[in-house]
Order: sequence, then structure tokens, then C-alpha cells
Amino acid sequence: MSLLNRIKEKEQEKGIEPLDSVQEVKKTEETLPKKDLVAAFREVRKQDSPKPRVNKPVDKHQELKGKLHKQILSELKDDNVEEIIPKLDAMAVEIIKEDESFRGKIDRKKVVDELINDLTGFGPINPLLMDDDVSEVMVNGPNHVYCERKGRIELTSVQFRDNEHVMNIIEKIVAPIGRRIDESSPMVDARLPDGSRVNAIIPPLALNGPTITIRKFSKDPFQVEDLINFGTVTHEMSVFLEACVKAKLNIFVSGGTGSGKTTTLNVLSNFIPNDERIITIEDAAELQLGQEHVVSLESRPPNIEGKGSISIRDLVRNSLRMRPDRIVIGEVRGGEALDMLQAMNTGHDGSLATGHSNSPRDMIARLETMVLLAGVELPVKAIREQIAGAIDVIIQQSRLKDGSRKVVNITEVQGLEGDVIVLQDIFTYKQDGVDANGKVKGRLVPTGVRPKFYERLESSGIHIPASVFIEEEDWGV
Ligand SMILES: Nc1ncnc2c1ncn2[C@@H]1O[C@H](COP(=O)(O)OP(=O)(O)OP(=O)(O)O)[C@@H](O)[C@H]1O
Ligand SMILES: [Mg+2]
Repeated sequence: MSLLNRIKEKEQEKGIEPLDSVQEVKKTEETLPKKDLVAAFREVRKQDSPKPRVNKPVDKHQELKGKLHKQILSELKDDNVEEIIPKLDAMAVEIIKEDESFRGKIDRKKVVDELINDLTGFGPINPLLMDDDVSEVMVNGPNHVYCERKGRIELTSVQFRDNEHVMNIIEKIVAPIGRRIDESSPMVDARLPDGSRVNAIIPPLALNGPTITIRKFSKDPFQVEDLINFGTVTHEMSVFLEACVKAKLNIFVSGGTGSGKTTTLNVLSNFIPNDERIITIEDAAELQLGQEHVVSLESRPPNIEGKGSISIRDLVRNSLRMRPDRIVIGEVRGGEALDMLQAMNTGHDGSLATGHSNSPRDMIARLETMVLLAGVELPVKAIREQIAGAIDVIIQQSRLKDGSRKVVNITEVQGLEGDVIVLQDIFTYKQDGVDANGKVKGRLVPTGVRPKFYERLESSGIHIPASVFIEEEDWGV
């Protein structure tokens, strides 16, 4: 069996995140009257049908660079970048000869120089870094380089010479930002000049050899129309989520690693009205907000002597003294949970955050644990009161077996009954099976329950047609 197949088989054995977060929701008496709303629903669909995404115009310089890059990718053998460099100029001449629209509008030398620079920056993984279809690059030692393309992980033919070669590339990445990697500090987080997030870990901690994980920075971040086109959310859900953000509900996006939490957070943040002061807090700045009035804060790891670290928690506390209208926290994973909940409970409404978890219920349990990490002795009931009072909506995101990312629950945190936090799904994912190509078939459906905060939305002047909460199969059409 080939190495590729062996690795693929291993991957399959490990399996990918099961769809355990999808829950069946019982319909309650609150289920809405249906038939009379069919017409209203159709009306909303007509009025608000998603607008097609408008692509930015491509300038000729970028267009030639793109064409050359495509050609390089198709001609590259064994990913030997050095061999292709001397041929680049001739390739550019050929393209310009074939396409009249480039003539007189291009500085060919500049295009070629820029490409050489891009190509030689980070060695054999450069072509992957330049390929816009690749969203993640994973180097597991010199001979196993994987990438994620359109949601699927594939083994590439990229090879490094040996461990030393991988180490050189890591050093090249971390040196400009003043970090170092060696046996005494064998793990490092860094960023590429274009903003891509990098993690490197080396032997003896990494047994396969030096390991690099790069989450590529998306030059053109996904917009809500993209999420609708990918099937991550439906149009009705997006209408609902936009209303929730505008009405200043506190929203938590929960999901597994790489399930698309940050992307969804970015899309949600872009619904915040332009006249509000937004403070974003992240470990590595990934959010790209379109508003003008944004203050971005980034935490800092300790220096080589282990001093000077500034945590997310420090930044959350500081942000409260910065007159925020909205606080957006990239990922909550420790004691900052307490500060965040307190802020949400004391007038900082409309905050958004993400957290790591497999279901809305699990997210609540994790938040309880995180609050304990803050080192303040609080009885569990008090913690639950804080959580139930602070968080209005949990959006559960999941990466399905076929690589697609879906919102699998939009859940309302209704409050505390006795000792239990009551959760109610508003939208949920119903999986129908898997088709012949391995694509997961399923639908995102409203559960028929109107959220308790519906009145709050109405009173803040935001109207969501009740039909948004009705399941399509129930319209009687
Ligand atoms: N809805 C989506 N559909 C398809 N691809 C997506 C979607 N959301 C995110 N992605 C892609 O998935 C990758 C991971 O996304 P993102 O960084 O948002 O995940 P995350 O859950 O925040 O990850 P992490 O746990 O590492 O912080 C990115 O490459 C992104 O482009
Ligand atoms: Mg993230």
C-alpha cells in the first residue's frame, strides 16, 4: 500500500468530528400558527433575497501575477522552486504576447520580481501559501505536508530536504518578530507578513519532526452572502442573526477547532452599526471589521525570560475603561470568562465572543469551568446566574465529515430554573444522510419556537417577520 493510502487510512480511522452536537428539539406549545404566515414568508424571501457577491475589479498587475502563478503551479515538478525562477520572465513574455489587454499596461520586471520574492520566501511551502484555494498548510516533519483545500485535508507532494530544512523555514518565520525556537523554547506562535497565523513545535516535543501549522489569512474575508452560498447559514438565519446583533444581544459562537468560529464572529461583527465604538480583543488579530470606529487589541506572550505577558483577561479588563459600545473577544478560554460575563451583566450589551466546545450545553459547562479559572471562589449557582443573565444566544458551529462548515444550532439561553440553565434551540440542523459523493445532506430548520427575547427585539425597533421561525415543510407549499 502506498504511503499516501496508508496515511489516508489512518486519517479515516481517527475519524472527523461526529455530528454529536445536533439535537432533536421537542416542539413546545409556543409553536406559531402556520398557514396564515406562508404569504408573509414568501414576501420576505422576495424582498430580502441574498445579494450576489460583488467581486472587486482585478488590476492588470495582479491579473498577470495570478496567471503566472497558475502556470507555475501546473509546471512545478517536485516543488523545486529554484528551477522555475529562471523561466519566469519568458513565461511572462509569452502570456503578454497571447493576451493583448496586458500590452502597455504592465511593468513586467516588477511582476516577475514580486513573484520571485514570494516564491523564495518560505521555501517549498511557498506555492501553497500563494494558492488562494488553500486555507491551511500543515507541515508534519519534512516528508508529510498537508493542506486544506475547499474544506478537505489533502497530502501534498511538497517535500523538505530534511528536518534541518524545516527548522530553517521556522527560523525565517519567527526571527523577524523577535521570537526564537530551540530546545529551551520548543513551541512558538507567530505571524507571516500577510497576517497568516503560524504555530511551530519541534522535537523532542514533536515526534514526527519540526511541525508547522499555518492558518492562512483571508485577503478577502467571507461575507454573510458567502456563508449563505456555502450553506453554513440559511437566509432566514442570517436575517435573524443580523437582528440579534443590531438589538445588542450578547452572542457566543461555539464550535470545535477550525469549525469557522472566527469567520462567523467576523461576519456577525460586521452587522454592528457604524456609529458604535467597537473594541476587539484577540490572541492573534484575525478579525477584519469594516466599520471605521474599531480599536483592535492583541494579547502578548511572555518574553524569553518568561516576563511581560499580557493576557486576554488583562485586555478585557482594560477595555472596560475605554468606553466601549461593543466588546468582541476572539476566543474565551480562561479566567477572562468571568470578566466578560460581568461586563455583559453590567451594561455592556451586544458583546460577541467565541469559545471551544461541541454543543451549546457543553459551552455552558465550559464557561462554568473557565469562571473557576479566574480564581474567585463563587458558588456554582452564582456562576450559573451570571451565565444565564449574560448570554442571550449561542451559535453552534461544526465542521462536518465532508469538510463543510455549518451552523448546527442557534440556541437561546432562556434563564435559570432552579439550578439549571434553560436552553432552547431556535434553529437546528437535520441531517438526512450522505450522498454518493460523500457530501452530507441536511437542512437547517427553524424549530418553530419563537425566542423569548422576541419582544426585546421588537422594542428596540427591530422587526423580524414571525415567518422566519417556521419550518419550510410546514408552510403547506
Ligand atoms: N462557513 C465556512 N465555510 C467554508 N469554509 C469556512 C467557513 N468558515 C470558515 N471557513 C474556513 O475554515 C478555516 C477555519 O476558519 P476559522 O479560523 O474561522 O475557524 P475557527 O473555528 O476560528 O478555528 P480555530 O479553532 O483554529 O480558531 C478557514 O480557512 C476559513 O477560511
Ligand atoms: Mg478562531
